[in-house]
Amino acid sequence: MNKVKKIVAFANSKGGVSKTSTCLGVASCCAELGYKTLVVDLDHQANLSDDVGRGDEDYTITDLFENPKFDINKIVYPALDNGNAISNLWVVPADITLAVEARAAERFRHRLHIIEDGLKKLKQDFDICFFDCRPAIDLTIENALLLSDMVVIPVNMDKRATKGINDLFEVTKEIKRTDDFMSLIVKTMFDRRNKVMIRAIEEELSNKGWKVANSVVSVSESFKQATKYNRPFTSFANDSRQHNELRALANELLDSLQVEGRRFNLVVEEDGVACGA
Ligand SMILES: Nc1ncnc2c1ncn2[C@@H]1O[C@H](COP(=O)(O)OP(=O)(O)OP(=O)(O)O)[C@@H](O)[C@H]1O
Ligand SMILES: [Mg+2]
Repeated sequence: MNKVKKIVAFANSKGGVSKTSTCLGVASCCAELGYKTLVVDLDHQANLSDDVGRGDEDYTITDLFENPKFDINKIVYPALDNGNAISNLWVVPADITLAVEARAAERFRHRLHIIEDGLKKLKQDFDICFFDCRPAIDLTIENALLLSDMVVIPVNMDKRATKGINDLFEVTKEIKRTDDFMSLIVKTMFDRRNKVMIRAIEEELSNKGWKVANSVVSVSESFKQATKYNRPFTSFANDSRQHNELRALANELLDSLQVEGRRFNLVVEEDGVACGA
């Protein structure tokens, strides 16, 4: 695909594991590095859209699922922070009717290619595109998985953390018709004090042989506060420990995807990661 160079889907059928927060966080970091970045909200809850000031648009991704010939350029909006456009970051928002329309779109013969066909019509080029998927397997996520160069699975370090991941991998294999695709587990809401739980989940992840990111995203109340004010976390808590962790994760993703160009200059310190860029 020439209009979008790399595509990453953030997915996990488990709800509330920080898919949206981590997806937007990493996307904001890519934009911060100067990459033209697009985030596509594929969740009818529209949490990501809200976080970039776009929870109330007339046209959304639902229009594409309703009518696959819909002009996608009408739903690419600059992402906002406090009403101001964020450099290099654009969003395709979602709305509450998406779930129903996605189900209705099952009738289309080319249903798995609705997003792919839409993106091909983009007038603007993007270096990287992120999909924020809903906590379920439906047509929207199947579209996203089919297109993605990498599937990122945020895992909160809580009970039943790994439940559903196997199923997600099976669906991905089936949709892509190959076992060979890039995936990355990211440990989210990481609280170093919960040593026993962390050890148990890390052992489980290692036994499964799944690729796990070196960077973690620690727990912070600021994520909830950022959501409350409809602001991206990286703007709300700029240069915080978690912002730097998201920068480290962005570096890791860009490396894995072999994207040439800028990276954050990060140094690991005793109490976390610091950014020297
Ligand atoms: N690292 C973190 N530390 C503390 N709170 C977090 C962190 N990441 C996300 N949260 C908070 O946890 C809640 C769920 O996060 P988020 O919406 O990103 O999860 P999700 O997986 O996208 O949820 P859903 O399955 O509903 O789409 C939100 O209130 C968010 O602000
Ligand atoms: Mg979400």
